[in-house]
Amino acid sequence: MKSFIRIGVTGAVLMAGPAAAIAQDLAKGETLFRRCAVCHGIGDTSKPVGPSLNNVIGRTAGTEESFASKYSKAMIAAGEGGLVWTVEEISEYITDPRKKVPGNKMAFPGLKKEDERADVIAYIAQFSTAAAAEPGEEEAAEPAAASQ
Ligand code: HEC
Repeated sequence: MKSFIRIGVTGAVLMAGPAAAIAQDLAKGETLFRRCAVCHGIGDTSKPVGPSLNNVIGRTAGTEESFASKYSKAMIAAGEGGLVWTVEEISEYITDPRKKVPGNKMAFPGLKKEDERADVIAYIAQFSTAAAAEPGEEEAAEPAAASQ
Protein backbone atom coordinates (compact mmCIF):
# COMPACT_ATOMS: atom_id res chain seq x y z
CA MET A 1 0.00 0.00 0.00
CA LYS A 2 2.73 2.37 0.91
CA SER A 3 4.28 2.11 -2.54
CA PHE A 4 1.14 3.65 -3.98
CA ILE A 5 2.05 6.95 -2.40
CA ARG A 6 5.77 6.66 -2.82
CA ILE A 7 6.16 5.89 -6.52
CA GLY A 8 8.17 8.58 -8.25
CA VAL A 9 8.23 10.40 -5.03
CA THR A 10 10.88 13.00 -5.91
CA GLY A 11 8.37 14.94 -7.94
CA ALA A 12 5.21 13.08 -8.69
CA VAL A 13 3.66 13.36 -5.24
CA LEU A 14 3.50 17.12 -5.51
CA MET A 15 2.32 17.16 -9.07
CA ALA A 16 -0.11 14.28 -9.17
CA GLY A 17 -0.60 12.82 -5.70
CA PRO A 18 -4.16 12.38 -4.50
CA ALA A 19 -5.16 15.05 -2.00
CA ALA A 20 -5.42 12.59 0.88
CA ALA A 21 -1.89 11.34 0.33
CA ILE A 22 -0.58 14.90 0.19
CA ALA A 23 -2.31 15.81 3.44
CA GLN A 24 -0.67 12.88 5.18
CA ASP A 25 2.73 13.81 3.80
CA LEU A 26 2.30 17.42 4.85
CA ALA A 27 1.83 16.51 8.50
CA LYS A 28 5.05 14.52 8.47
CA GLY A 29 6.75 17.18 6.43
CA GLU A 30 5.85 19.84 8.95
CA THR A 31 7.46 17.80 11.72
CA LEU A 32 10.54 17.12 9.61
CA PHE A 33 10.83 20.78 8.73
CA ARG A 34 11.74 21.51 12.35
CA ARG A 35 15.22 20.29 11.41
CA CYS A 36 15.40 22.94 8.72
CA ALA A 37 13.66 25.61 10.77
CA VAL A 38 16.70 25.95 13.02
CA CYS A 39 18.23 27.89 10.14
CA HIS A 40 15.48 28.63 7.61
CA GLY A 41 12.45 30.87 7.93
CA ILE A 42 9.25 30.03 6.09
CA GLY A 43 5.80 31.60 6.12
CA ASP A 44 5.92 34.39 8.69
CA THR A 45 9.13 33.27 10.37
CA SER A 46 12.57 34.45 9.43
CA LYS A 47 15.94 33.16 10.57
CA PRO A 48 19.29 34.84 10.17
CA VAL A 49 21.29 31.67 9.51
CA GLY A 50 19.78 30.58 6.20
CA PRO A 51 17.79 32.05 3.29
CA SER A 52 13.99 32.15 3.53
CA LEU A 53 12.38 29.16 1.87
CA ASN A 54 9.28 31.10 0.85
CA ASN A 55 8.92 30.73 -2.91
CA VAL A 56 12.06 28.61 -3.14
CA ILE A 57 10.46 26.35 -5.76
CA GLY A 58 11.31 27.90 -9.10
CA ARG A 59 13.93 30.23 -7.62
CA THR A 60 17.46 30.35 -8.96
CA ALA A 61 19.97 29.15 -6.35
CA GLY A 62 21.61 31.90 -4.32
CA THR A 63 19.10 34.64 -5.16
CA GLU A 64 16.92 35.19 -2.07
CA GLU A 65 17.20 38.97 -1.74
CA SER A 66 17.48 39.41 2.00
CA PHE A 67 20.17 36.73 2.15
CA ALA A 68 22.14 38.09 -0.81
CA SER A 69 25.18 39.18 1.17
CA LYS A 70 25.40 35.92 3.10
CA TYR A 71 25.38 33.25 0.39
CA SER A 72 28.58 31.33 -0.23
CA LYS A 73 30.38 31.91 -3.49
CA ALA A 74 29.65 28.29 -4.31
CA MET A 75 25.87 28.77 -4.03
CA ILE A 76 25.89 31.96 -6.09
CA ALA A 77 28.04 30.25 -8.72
CA ALA A 78 25.62 27.31 -8.80
CA GLY A 79 22.76 29.70 -9.56
CA GLU A 80 24.80 31.49 -12.20
CA GLY A 81 25.51 28.08 -13.66
CA GLY A 82 21.78 27.53 -14.07
CA LEU A 83 20.69 25.74 -10.88
CA VAL A 84 16.99 26.43 -10.28
CA TRP A 85 15.31 24.89 -7.23
CA THR A 86 12.78 22.36 -8.44
CA VAL A 87 11.43 19.60 -6.21
CA GLU A 88 14.00 17.23 -7.67
CA GLU A 89 16.95 19.59 -7.29
CA ILE A 90 16.03 20.32 -3.66
CA SER A 91 15.71 16.61 -3.02
CA GLU A 92 19.20 15.99 -4.39
CA TYR A 93 20.59 18.93 -2.45
CA ILE A 94 19.19 17.90 0.93
CA THR A 95 20.30 14.30 0.39
CA ASP A 96 23.90 15.46 0.53
CA PRO A 97 24.31 19.25 0.41
CA ARG A 98 28.07 19.18 -0.05
CA LYS A 99 27.91 16.76 -2.93
CA LYS A 100 25.24 18.70 -4.81
CA VAL A 101 26.86 22.11 -4.34
CA PRO A 102 30.52 21.60 -3.36
CA GLY A 103 31.77 24.40 -1.13
CA ASN A 104 28.31 25.59 -0.08
CA LYS A 105 27.89 26.45 3.58
CA MET A 106 24.67 24.74 4.62
CA ALA A 107 25.78 22.76 7.67
CA PHE A 108 23.26 19.97 7.32
CA PRO A 109 24.29 16.32 7.07
CA GLY A 110 21.49 15.33 4.73
CA LEU A 111 18.15 13.57 4.77
CA LYS A 112 18.88 10.10 3.46
CA LYS A 113 15.34 8.73 3.33
CA GLU A 114 13.53 9.47 0.10
CA ASP A 115 10.08 9.51 1.71
CA GLU A 116 11.25 12.01 4.32
CA ARG A 117 12.65 14.27 1.63
CA ALA A 118 9.37 14.10 -0.30
CA ASP A 119 7.38 14.94 2.82
CA VAL A 120 9.51 17.89 3.84
CA ILE A 121 9.57 19.28 0.29
CA ALA A 122 5.78 18.90 0.06
CA TYR A 123 5.58 21.02 3.20
CA ILE A 124 7.98 23.63 1.80
CA ALA A 125 6.13 23.72 -1.53
CA GLN A 126 3.03 25.05 0.22
CA PHE A 127 4.90 28.31 0.61
CA SER A 128 5.88 28.55 -3.05
CA THR A 129 3.42 30.10 -5.45
CA ALA A 130 5.04 28.22 -8.35
CA ALA A 131 4.10 24.93 -6.71
CA ALA A 132 0.75 26.07 -5.30
CA ALA A 133 -0.48 26.78 -8.81
CA GLU A 134 -0.80 23.03 -9.33
CA PRO A 135 -4.28 21.47 -9.26
CA GLY A 136 -5.62 20.67 -5.79
CA GLU A 137 -6.44 24.06 -4.36
CA GLU A 138 -6.88 22.85 -0.79
CA GLU A 139 -3.14 22.71 -0.21
CA ALA A 140 -2.77 26.23 -1.53
CA ALA A 141 -5.30 27.67 0.91
CA GLU A 142 -2.86 28.36 3.73
CA PRO A 143 -0.10 30.31 1.97
CA ALA A 144 -2.70 32.16 -0.09
CA ALA A 145 -4.32 33.34 3.13
CA ALA A 146 -0.93 34.41 4.49
CA SER A 147 -0.22 36.62 1.51
CA GLN A 148 -3.57 38.42 1.51
C1 HEC B 1 22.57 24.58 10.11
C2 HEC B 1 21.71 25.46 9.34
C3 HEC B 1 20.87 24.83 8.23
C4 HEC B 1 20.02 23.75 8.29
C5 HEC B 1 19.73 22.84 9.48
C6 HEC B 1 19.42 23.63 6.98
N1 HEC B 1 19.88 24.61 6.15
FE1 HEC B 1 19.38 24.89 4.19
N2 HEC B 1 20.76 26.39 4.04
C7 HEC B 1 21.52 26.88 5.08
C8 HEC B 1 22.43 27.90 4.58
C9 HEC B 1 23.44 28.70 5.40
C10 HEC B 1 22.17 27.99 3.19
C11 HEC B 1 22.92 28.86 2.18
C12 HEC B 1 24.11 28.03 1.71
C13 HEC B 1 25.17 28.78 0.93
O1 HEC B 1 25.02 29.98 0.65
O2 HEC B 1 26.18 28.15 0.60
C14 HEC B 1 21.11 27.04 2.89
C15 HEC B 1 20.54 26.86 1.64
C16 HEC B 1 19.43 26.08 1.37
C17 HEC B 1 18.73 26.02 0.12
C18 HEC B 1 19.07 26.86 -1.11
C19 HEC B 1 18.29 28.16 -0.97
C20 HEC B 1 18.66 29.25 -1.94
O3 HEC B 1 18.13 30.36 -1.75
O4 HEC B 1 19.45 29.05 -2.87
C21 HEC B 1 17.71 25.13 0.26
C22 HEC B 1 16.70 24.74 -0.78
C23 HEC B 1 17.79 24.63 1.61
N3 HEC B 1 18.83 25.23 2.25
C24 HEC B 1 16.89 23.70 2.14
C25 HEC B 1 17.03 23.16 3.42
C26 HEC B 1 16.14 22.13 3.93
C27 HEC B 1 14.96 21.57 3.20
C28 HEC B 1 16.59 21.82 5.19
C29 HEC B 1 16.05 20.77 6.14
C30 HEC B 1 15.93 19.43 5.60
C31 HEC B 1 17.74 22.67 5.46
N4 HEC B 1 17.96 23.45 4.36
C32 HEC B 1 18.47 22.68 6.63
C33 HEC B 1 21.47 26.47 6.40
C34 HEC B 1 20.77 25.37 6.88
